[in-house]
Amino acid sequence: MQRIDTVHALRQQLRLAHTPGQTLGFVPTMGALHEGHLDLVRRARQECDLVVASVFVNPVQFNNPDDLARYPRTLEQDAEMLQSVGTDLLFFPSADEMYPEAPQLRLNFGELETVMEGAFRPGHFNGVGIVVAKLFNLVQPDRAYFGQKDLQQIAVVRRLIRDLSFPVELIRCDTVREADGLAMSSRNRNLTPNERLQAPIIHQALTLAHDLMLEGQSPNQAKAAVTGLFAQQPHFRLEYVEVANADTLQPVSEMQAPGQTAICLAAHLGKVRLIDNLVF
Ligand code: PAJ
Repeated sequence: MQRIDTVHALRQQLRLAHTPGQTLGFVPTMGALHEGHLDLVRRARQECDLVVASVFVNPVQFNNPDDLARYPRTLEQDAEMLQSVGTDLLFFPSADEMYPEAPQLRLNFGELETVMEGAFRPGHFNGVGIVVAKLFNLVQPDRAYFGQKDLQQIAVVRRLIRDLSFPVELIRCDTVREADGLAMSSRNRNLTPNERLQAPIIHQALTLAHDLMLEGQSPNQAKAAVTGLFAQQPHFRLEYVEVANADTLQPVSEMQAPGQTAICLAAHLGKVRLIDNLVF
């Protein structure tokens, strides 16, 4: 696996390594890697000739400076993990390398910005859009692999690809979970042992809402059940729970066609903010 930390070297190396007709798969990450990330890389390895991964904690997408400061950074371990699943090239630029100057461009994703992560993390998707657009321009992938764990991010990237005509196929990969249901996340490392024991309640709440809706209850009733469940959890603060269309992410008051209903939530557990969703 090649390790590259400058834009210049990345372009040079891709010119050499990426021969015409080969497919290039790309997995962008912020590091502190876990099995969820590795699953994306494994899928890219199966489907593409050349696999590029990036590790870059993108300051522009953090709306909370404490969250950025606390974000775990484990580059050596990340590089070993990426190598073990067959990554060809790891790009790990510094913030100065990616942003010699603060970007002046502002991206607005319209109604996608008005709900859930867009509403509670102002500017977040502007930052995601800018970095993903830059990375797509640098890496020029044929396929890019993203996790369903960040469902709204997938909708944002889909929009970015369409609006800017990137010749990239977006591949959505299932959420990888711990044995107790907790969605894997780099932020899980920041949970105390006691918080970690409570964290699976997020998945239990989503499953409860899912089951209630399959029994015929409305999205509003399912959301009320989730809110009630979190009200009994003193260490949690539920930020939102929403039932939405899985493609548009707009809230819905009725179940959608199969595979099109998403139940999404964000909750604070101690100092850690966690998100998760189920699509059914
Ligand atoms: P990060 O949180 O590191 O996630 C990188 C990719 O891994 C994303 O596509 C995310 O959805 C996926 N992922 C995270 N946890 C997962 C899990 N448990 N199962 C499956 N996939 C999972 O998302 C970002 O970084 C950034 O916003 C980024 C796209 C890299 C732009 O900075």
